[in-house]
Amino acid sequence: MFLTDEERRILDGEYGEPQRIALGVLLKLGEAYGADRMVEIASAHVVGSSYQIAGEAGIEIYSQLVAQGARVKVRTTSDPGSIDFLRWREFKTPANYAERQIKIAALLDQMGVIPTWTCTPYTTFNVPRFGEDLGWSESSAVVFANSVIGAHTNRLAAYVDVCAALTGRVPRFGLHLPECRRGEVLFELDPDLATNFEDHFFPALGYLIGQVTGDRIPVIAGVKHATFDQLKALGAASAASGSVALYHMVGITPEARTLEEALGGRAPAERVSVGKREIVQTLEQMSTGQAGAVDVVGVGCPHASIDQMRRYAALLRGKRVHTGVQLWICTNTAVEEMARKMGYVEAIEQAGAKLMVGTCHNDCPLGAWGFRRLVTDSGKFAYYTPTTVGTECVFASTEACLEAAITGAVERP
Ligand code: F3S
Repeated sequence: MFLTDEERRILDGEYGEPQRIALGVLLKLGEAYGADRMVEIASAHVVGSSYQIAGEAGIEIYSQLVAQGARVKVRTTSDPGSIDFLRWREFKTPANYAERQIKIAALLDQMGVIPTWTCTPYTTFNVPRFGEDLGWSESSAVVFANSVIGAHTNRLAAYVDVCAALTGRVPRFGLHLPECRRGEVLFELDPDLATNFEDHFFPALGYLIGQVTGDRIPVIAGVKHATFDQLKALGAASAASGSVALYHMVGITPEARTLEEALGGRAPAERVSVGKREIVQTLEQMSTGQAGAVDVVGVGCPHASIDQMRRYAALLRGKRVHTGVQLWICTNTAVEEMARKMGYVEAIEQAGAKLMVGTCHNDCPLGAWGFRRLVTDSGKFAYYTPTTVGTECVFASTEACLEAAITGAVERP
């Protein structure tokens, strides 16, 4: 790989041990993937902020880095942690577990990481521009940054993201190269689909796309309109059921003004027709649980936006969550504060729902609750919670989720 004079000096240790080690890791990664050189990044986003992901190894590594004077070189934000820093006792998090997460938070603070504790950093303090190179991890954030914003980042692994943050660089391969951003699998939607499925439609379509596409790049043709939150939900589901890091939606995402542009002027390697039947089959797969009594409801995955908070408040105002049911809404502190100012948090809490801030059902240890059936409107939760929380899962629309929390029971969609 070509290295600049400065990069050679970093590898010689002129800028300190943390940068030397970090660039060495990135160099090995670049060589493995055939990168020609490093590229400077505008920002980093790190997943090893979570104790569940970083573990004791993370504490050890970050402690050493801090002792060696490590500071991030570019704007760097933290993914959700494994506790709600204010309410961890309410979520029955063991005290020794919370202590370990708090220790990681203190170490990241010393390295200069912005403590966003969110999987939607693009809504708060880490908003990329079109065409910028980034060093991000967190699959749902990566797919949003690449697809909806048109920034360039591969799906970095934990610790590689820290190396990117410490050096302000990543090896130039994969989605940093224009020729690797062309669509490969074309999903052609029946014209009436988007209106038939509304709320369910986007995460279900994302889930289906992830299953078919794997790590290739899907192009979606036939969606007339999609909101910020619908694009967020679709991407997160596709990145969970598959490894999608970039999708193009014709006429909607910035590198897909036309079908030809999305495909880079080539024919798709595969065409997939998506009609009502395919969506119904996907909805069946997303629900591993049966209809019946519910004990936990999870919305806000990826972390809820202010629009979603408004919607939850409107749906819950004057209602009451059923005894024995936990309704948890995941979001970040910036959205929480705004939602509090706007009266949404009051309506949500008066109904008996809880905000889960800076973390989520998948990141927290929830064993003490003994949950059996989770209802969610998130394709990502639907994919992971049977493993991470150990529950059955019923995927449903946002309205149906909140209704289940109020009645204490759910139908399969
Ligand atoms: Fe975010 Fe947790 Fe979902 S990290 S994307 S809320 S699984």
